[in-house]
Amino acid sequence: MLVLGIETSCDETGVALYDSARGLLAHAVHSQTALHAEYGGVVPELASRDHVRRLLPLVRDVLARGGARLEALDAVAYTEGPGLAGALLVGASVAESLALGLGIPAIGIHHLEGHLLSPLLSRDPPRFPFVALLVSGGHTQLMRVDGVGRYALLGETLDDAAGEAFDKTAQLLGLGYPGGPALSALAERGRPGRFHLPRPMLASGDLDFSFSGLKTAVVTLVRAHPLDDATRADVARAFQDAVVEVLVAKCVAAVDSAGLGELVVAGGVGANRQLRAALDAAAARHGFRVHYPELELCTDNGAMIALAGALRLAHAGRRAASGSFTVRPRWELDSLAQP
Ligand code: KG4
Ligand code: ZN
Repeated sequence: MLVLGIETSCDETGVALYDSARGLLAHAVHSQTALHAEYGGVVPELASRDHVRRLLPLVRDVLARGGARLEALDAVAYTEGPGLAGALLVGASVAESLALGLGIPAIGIHHLEGHLLSPLLSRDPPRFPFVALLVSGGHTQLMRVDGVGRYALLGETLDDAAGEAFDKTAQLLGLGYPGGPALSALAERGRPGRFHLPRPMLASGDLDFSFSGLKTAVVTLVRAHPLDDATRADVARAFQDAVVEVLVAKCVAAVDSAGLGELVVAGGVGANRQLRAALDAAAARHGFRVHYPELELCTDNGAMIALAGALRLAHAGRRAASGSFTVRPRWELDSLAQP
């Protein structure tokens, strides 16, 4: 089954071609980071307009690189939500129109389901059931995953997402937007232990998180010290140490309490090297396995949407697109129906 995947929920235009027999044939991502950088955050209207400009050329490019003609497609999958309404509508309109014209199904996919299933594209895929840590710019959640569409929320952030905390702290340190990757690179040069930041909710006894207090603690630290290069790196390190320790502790607790042997880590923050090293060490100590998506599939992309579409289509009946559709800017993952 050959599925075209389209992702336009935020500031990346992602397109991919996935074949259920042969795997990922081609994928391409256009990042709008440079477009939004001067505003210090994503400007929704600019995001939508850029998706309009980029999407069709990317579709042509991916089809050419995947060696497939439009007529060969069995379905088009797209991100239905959650995300920016205008941005979602661009991907949904293109996907639904293509599918309508070709007389094939169009499948709306939950963005986080895409992230959650993305490690299935890796060389060493996880097996159901597993625990998943979703750590992106908009979400920090622990889920129990029993199969496609069978997701139970174990815990989540009560305020900021981990990626959001990385981005806000990066901004405090003058690293621009989105600062997560830059902050983590700086932290790798920082001295561990010079500053100590709180570990929010480490001992809360549940699987929830809170990251907004950490940002306030960084503000206090930054005000109290002249920000030379070494100090900035040390603050970045203290921040990353705190976030990583909390994420790892809650993952271990989630795997233990669920009684499962596999953990999947997905979403942009899953690209963080210190987090990966700490999770690998904890997994070795506690006797479970950790699966990550390939690095290039950690952040938003069309491949995870194409894969989720193919998996859902394998279970569900095939109905050709009808031309009527909607998007869901807000959408809870554990409200998803099984295919
Ligand atoms: O999953 P994603 O691409 O988009 C959302 O759906 O949010 O995640 C983006 C987030 C941003 O907050 C970005 O700063 C963060 O992931 N991020 C990182 C790293 N790479 C991306 N945070 C920490 N360390 C990284 N290496
Ligand atoms: Zn995402």
